[in-house]
Amino acid sequence: MSTVVPLKRQPADAKGYRILNRAAAVDHDEKRRVVAGLLATPAELSPKYFYDELGCALYGAICQLPEYYPTRTEIAIFRDHRTEIADAVGQGGQFVDLGAGDCCKAEGWLPFLNPSRYVAVDIAGPEIERSLARMAPDFPDIEMVGVVTDFSRALDLEGALLPGPATFFYPGSSIGNFTPEGALGFLSGVRRYFDDGREGSGLLIGVDGKKEKARLDAAYDDALGVTAAFNRNALLHLNRKFGFDFDLNGFLHRGFYNEAEGRVEMHLEAVRDQDVRIDGHVRHFATGERIHTENSYKYEPAAFIALLKGAGFDNVRIWSSPDRGYTVYFAT
Ligand SMILES: C[S@@+](CC[C@H](N)C(=O)[O-])C[C@H]1O[C@@H](n2cnc3c(N)ncnc32)[C@H](O)[C@@H]1O
Repeated sequence: MSTVVPLKRQPADAKGYRILNRAAAVDHDEKRRVVAGLLATPAELSPKYFYDELGCALYGAICQLPEYYPTRTEIAIFRDHRTEIADAVGQGGQFVDLGAGDCCKAEGWLPFLNPSRYVAVDIAGPEIERSLARMAPDFPDIEMVGVVTDFSRALDLEGALLPGPATFFYPGSSIGNFTPEGALGFLSGVRRYFDDGREGSGLLIGVDGKKEKARLDAAYDDALGVTAAFNRNALLHLNRKFGFDFDLNGFLHRGFYNEAEGRVEMHLEAVRDQDVRIDGHVRHFATGERIHTENSYKYEPAAFIALLKGAGFDNVRIWSSPDRGYTVYFAT
């Protein structure tokens, strides 16, 4: 039996969507930074290299895993406190989704907040273009703008944001990918957008808390091996983007909670001695040597509120999961 799904038609006066591609501007230093990180000891790579097309799809699969609690926990907080959070945020204005990905979490908010403009910001251009094309017909009154940019360098919303209040939305505990100092800098950058004609703006952000090691270890090293594929795919991405010759079979996934540092770490570990060609260099990896690919810092509410205050936010409201393990903050 087949099901007929009516095609979505865009109303003639629908606002539609447009994409501002900031990633198209050549970043001459990008390759140099990647090469320097890989030649260093210990080797390191920014987690932004997870998110090519396959990486975005694998992240979507991670969110479905039984061990990966953050996505479903955060969505449950949004659902359980929908009215209170919507009242705090307010109606209208602009809604800026940082690291929007498939835009699904923001999509859940749009009918409750009725923004005039939705701005989806992400390094993964095809992912947000696809998401905005999917959403635009359902929200004909909302102007949709995609900004393809790397906000770990700077949050550049030139041309995407109008004067007037904006709610910045940063779900998924992605703030944990920054070091605490980096998070302070990033949040201060968001806070600066509130000045100069954007009084009444706010930040709605979801942050994972510290919890027992076994639960965190399982969440970042699942039995099916999806997180392992997500981590190892970064090497495929590098090979394609920069012409390196990593052998995927040469590296294993490691994901574990480092209690002393208060963060989950992901690494790629060499399973044997091997040489990799990296932009004219030959990098020898000894058996057991690792490339550090991600940190995911975990914050207790008191520590995260202190970080928000340090970044210039005066008022903070919070909503936590029943086990207090995950918290959503609204800061103004
Ligand atoms: C963990 S996913 C979260 C996706 C979605 N917001 C959610 O909560 O499910 C992180 C998202 O941030 C994007 N991202 C990662 N690093 C970025 C960077 N440096 N600049 C812009 N976007 C980035 C990724 O492409 C990805 O869509």
